[in-house]
Parts: sequence; C-alpha cells; structure tokens
Amino acid sequence: MNSPIIFPNPFRPGAGHPPPYLAGRETETKEFSALLEQDPILTNLVLTGLRGVGKTVLLETFKPIALQSGWLWAGTDLSESASVSEDNVAIRLLADLSPLVANVVVAETEERSMGFGAKAAKESVRLDFELLRQHFAATPGLAADKLKSALELVWASVAATTKVQGIVLAYDEAQNLSDHAETYQYPLSLLLDVFQSLQKKGLPFLLVLTGLPTLFPKLVAARTYTERMFHVTTLGRLSNGDSRDAILKPIQQQKCPVHFTPAAVEDIIQHSGGYPYFIQFLCREIFDSYLQQRAGGATKPSVTVAQVARKLDGDFFAGRWNRVTDRQREFLAVVAQLPNCDDEFTVQEIVERSRAALTKSFSASHVNQILAKLAESGLVYKNRHGRYSFAVPLLGDFIRRDQADGQGTLRPKISG
Ligand SMILES: Nc1ncnc2c1ncn2[C@@H]1O[C@H](COP(=O)(O)OP(=O)(O)OP(=O)(O)O)[C@@H](O)[C@H]1O
Ligand SMILES: [Mg+2]
Repeated sequence: MNSPIIFPNPFRPGAGHPPPYLAGRETETKEFSALLEQDPILTNLVLTGLRGVGKTVLLETFKPIALQSGWLWAGTDLSESASVSEDNVAIRLLADLSPLVANVVVAETEERSMGFGAKAAKESVRLDFELLRQHFAATPGLAADKLKSALELVWASVAATTKVQGIVLAYDEAQNLSDHAETYQYPLSLLLDVFQSLQKKGLPFLLVLTGLPTLFPKLVAARTYTERMFHVTTLGRLSNGDSRDAILKPIQQQKCPVHFTPAAVEDIIQHSGGYPYFIQFLCREIFDSYLQQRAGGATKPSVTVAQVARKLDGDFFAGRWNRVTDRQREFLAVVAQLPNCDDEFTVQEIVERSRAALTKSFSASHVNQILAKLAESGLVYKNRHGRYSFAVPLLGDFIRRDQADGQGTLRPKISG
C-alpha cells in the first residue's frame, strides 16, 4: 500500500525562526565578514531594520562565520531587565562570557586529609561565572572600571589557553538598552564606554548590536563617538529576485505536492512588498490552504493571494491597530494618504494633508503629541533627522485597505 507523501509545510513565519531558505543578504554577510578581519578593532556593527525584516535570523548566520574565522561568540537578547542598571548589564555580559572561560584553570587548591602519609587532593579553581562576578565586585572603582577589568581577565585567560582571533559579543533587541538619568543609571553608556576603552587598548572584542531603527539614534544620543564606532547595516525588503528565491527554493523538490504558478509568485512578491516575514506568512497559508482543498476532494485547488492577505491583516496588523484610539486612527489614515508614507514623513506634511482631508484638522503641536504617543506604542519612530517613519512594514497599505473596507474613521471633508 502506498503511504501518502508527507511534505511538511516548509515556511516559517515567526520571530527568529530560521527560514527554509535565507534569500539575499550577501552584501550584509560580506560586511560582517570584513569586520572580522580587523586588527585592532575600530568598527563594530549595528544591524537594524523594521520588524520582521530578518535581523535575528541573519545574526544567527553570522555566528558560524565568526567561529570558522577563529572567533569566539557570546551574547543573547537584551531584555529590558538587563537595561535597568549598570550592574545588571555588566552581570549580563559576564554571564554570557563565562561559558567561554569556564574551563580555564586559574589556580589549584590543596586539601590535605588528616593523618600521616595522607595525600593532598588537588582541586582546580576554574574561571566560572561566580569567580568572574567576585572579580567584578572586588575591583575598585565604578561599574565601568569593574567590567573592564573583568573583560580583560576573560581575554587574558582565553588568549593564554587557545589561539583565537577575538570574541564577538552579539546582542539582539538592543533597542531595549537605555540610560536612566532619573535613577542615575547609565547601562547603555557603560557598554559603549567599556568597549571603546578595551578596543583602544587593542583587545579584540567586537560588538554586534541588532535592533529596531530606534537603536542607532539611541546610541548616538548616549555617546556621540558611537557615530564613528559602528558600521550601520540596514536590512530592507528583499529584491524581486531574492523574494522569488525565498518563495520557490523551499518547494523546488520533486516530492513537494504544492506548486506556485508564476502569477501567484508575482502576487506574493507584490503583496509582501519583499518583506521576509510577509513572504513566509503568505507562502505558509497558501501551502496549507492548497493541501486542505486537495484533502477536501478538490482536483484543482485554487488559492488566491488576496484571500490569504486578509488573514495577514487579521493576524499581524489588527492587533496593533486595535490598540490605537479612534483619533489616532484618523491621524494614521491621514499619514497613509501621503505619497511618501512608506518612506519618511514630516510633521508639516501631516498638518497640510490633514487640512485638505479633514474637517477637524491637526495642528502642528497636536501632530507632535500624537506622533510621540504612537512612537511609544511602537507604530512609528523618529529618525535622526527629525523625520518619522512607520515602524511596521506596509502599515500604509493596511490602513488604506481598512479605509477602503468602509470601517475606516476618515471622513471626507464636508464643504460649506
Ligand atoms: N532572508 C530571508 N529570506 C527568507 N525568509 C527570511 C529572511 N530573513 C528573515 N526571514 C523570515 O522572516 C521572519 C522574520 O525574521 P526575524 O525574526 O529574523 O526578523 P526580525 O527583523 O528579527 O524581526 P523583529 O524586529 O520582530 O525581531 C522569519 O519568519 C524568518 O524566517
Ligand atoms: Mg528579531
């Protein structure tokens, strides 16, 4: 008896889920590899981009490259709790680095048993997290001095036992890191100061920070020298060719029961705007619906991208949209009417557009206030030049679809 062919859905829409085929990103990968060639380290990396553009999965692919080039790798997500205080961020770094040195023996203790002729048992003292933390605590000075000293100890221990090029410290979600003047805690500045100082001394620690577009302006606001300390790689949408690869390569296998027509591929590219998360989402849904229709007896299943795009609206955008107030929606609908809304826009442009579109238009100070609120809730962000952008890809398209459905809140201007 023939068992049914099992070909699991290969697409992986999700946060940090490696895609079945990582399309494009060759330039960014080369940029990272070039940073590993530096001696001494002068330039670190900021990898930034909108939600779902592929920062986390790209960072994951950098790790084996670093290891192959003789580097060690440490790091994780920077949670908000790591950013609460200088000690927290220091402890975070020590905890991440400690596995790299946990086998390094720094001393031996002797324990003699009682009695004549008893042999001494030798116990190795290893440079584990506890010892690093003790070193940190016992070093005189400020948190920055303590952390520097602990990292110097880590490097000296690593370099004494193995032949390595250096240590990459990679932190995802680094936009969570902030200084807190109100509590006199400056964890972000601490991290930057420590790395700058170690690199000046020639220690090969390379810092790789990944995060939303708010990250780099935040670094520069904390320490202006960071402009020269980092190379900024901004991930954007995939080119049409790369999008096509992301869609087709995972199913280009003989036993795959689902095929996408060239027209469907073009539709997916268009609806996704080349944004990786949207490509994974649309492909996964189409793949499943196709198989479901076939299981239901359809001989020629037909799935349109427009059908699954609706689901994307419900799953991805609606949650964010439901959290904004009616007046903010009205405001965002005005922004979505700007021809440059997918790029960047200014306060003045919104004011002018609202005058043309609404009976009750927005003043400049009101626009500033609402933008600040929307930035807090992660829908827009302000760039270094004082202009704003949507923090979520293709938000403008979604808002226009919502308006066209008649559920929108933007009313045409009534004359008279
Ligand atoms: N180059 C690529 N080719 C194909 N799919 C990709 C690519 N990059 C990312 N993806 C897919 O896109 C989705 C989002 O990726 P990822 O979580 O890395 O984005 P992110 O930028 O870290 O998002 P966030 O800002 O929310 O953390 C995942 O489902 C991933 O598999
Ligand atoms: Mg991520």
